[in-house]
Amino acid sequence: MGKIVIAIDGYSGCGKSSTAKAVAKALGYTYIDSGAMYRAATLHFLNHYLLASNPHDVEKGLKTLEISFHLNPETNIQETYLNGLNVEDEIRTMRVSENVSQIATIKEIRRELVAQQQRLGRKKGVVMDGRDVGSVVFPDAELKVFMTANLHTRSVRRQAELLEKGELVDLEDIKKNLASRDQVDSTRAEGPLKKMEDAMEVDTSDISFDEQVKAIVDRAREII
Ligand code: C5P
Repeated sequence: MGKIVIAIDGYSGCGKSSTAKAVAKALGYTYIDSGAMYRAATLHFLNHYLLASNPHDVEKGLKTLEISFHLNPETNIQETYLNGLNVEDEIRTMRVSENVSQIATIKEIRRELVAQQQRLGRKKGVVMDGRDVGSVVFPDAELKVFMTANLHTRSVRRQAELLEKGELVDLEDIKKNLASRDQVDSTRAEGPLKKMEDAMEVDTSDISFDEQVKAIVDRAREII
């Protein structure tokens, strides 16, 4: 069949991005982090004191928003740039996490980012993770995956990730942030998070990282 599109959606902090990266590596595909784009947009709005509730601010913010990804040759990691500046670390801070779901409810912002994501995946051979990838960005994706894990497991993993980057955050605060993002992401009008009927469900609470990657790579190879 040749190259396909793999759409990985799911709740916050269930390991979508590390899984998607490993799947992309195994298949020689490009990994695209759609959440990083919403995070970069959020940072842009925060930095410029723009309000997502003000249509004038939304228009102004979108006009001056330029997001791109560049491969860091030393780490071999795709890093996120906002208007030419590397924001890979800044977009993962709690300051951004606490505001991103609100920004992601704005339909003008979603439409712009979805259009950019569709352009990035036009040539196929991509693994993209997010919330609406299998439903809105690539409804015809050849492989759709819906990832879940229980809230406690997700929070512990997220806490370790933040600590590795030097940010010590209380577990309860992380739980609250993940639960509130899930709630906003699942109930918004535009591109809500939901499991598509044709998606393969992967619950990562009790399986190892290698097992979850293998399950997806094996399914992709059956299709390719
Ligand atoms: O994937 P990550 O947790 O980094 O995404 C951050 C936030 O960006 C999500 O909580 C969600 O509000 C938003 N998002 C989205 N649609 C996507 C990807 C992320 O609304 N496709």
